[in-house]
Amino acid sequence: MLTWSDELVLDHPAMDATHEEFVALLAAAEAALAESPPVALASYATLIEHTRAHFGQEDRWMAESGFARENCHSFQHAQVLELMQEVDRLARELGDFGPMQRVLPELGHWFRVHAQSMDAALASHLDQIGHDPATGHIARPPAARPITGCGGKSCSAAPQPGETETA
Ligand SMILES: [Fe+2]
Ligand SMILES: [Fe+2]
Repeated sequence: MLTWSDELVLDHPAMDATHEEFVALLAAAEAALAESPPVALASYATLIEHTRAHFGQEDRWMAESGFARENCHSFQHAQVLELMQEVDRLARELGDFGPMQRVLPELGHWFRVHAQSMDAALASHLDQIGHDPATGHIARPPAARPITGCGGKSCSAAPQPGETETA
């Protein structure tokens, strides 16, 4: 189970606060799954809602700080959210909690890499241009050309949909 630690801190207070909440909600969902299906569904729904806001916040920061609308970081957010929603659907509609059981630890592995690569690159970019996360104001505007990569040297892989396929 993923726990909050210094290695996940990116020195971006707003992003770090959201990430710490994500780690706690992920752990809560894993614990809930061990308890009972209704508790797991409620806990997983809370995790999805939080993740939607978490990714939306970073996508907004990218949009207002020089990233192209289509960029690999935002694309990965969309892929992961879609996967999480599909896992929710399988549990709700078919009562199949296998995919949820597999995807929760997988999300922990994915998040560690994502935070340390794409999110770290975004945090450093926002810091460099003097972006104010509350107002969107930019003290040192970036180059005019939109950024289509993740803004870092490496990209982390998203969890693969095959990992949650039902038998
Ligand atoms: Fe993030
Ligand atoms: Fe991100």
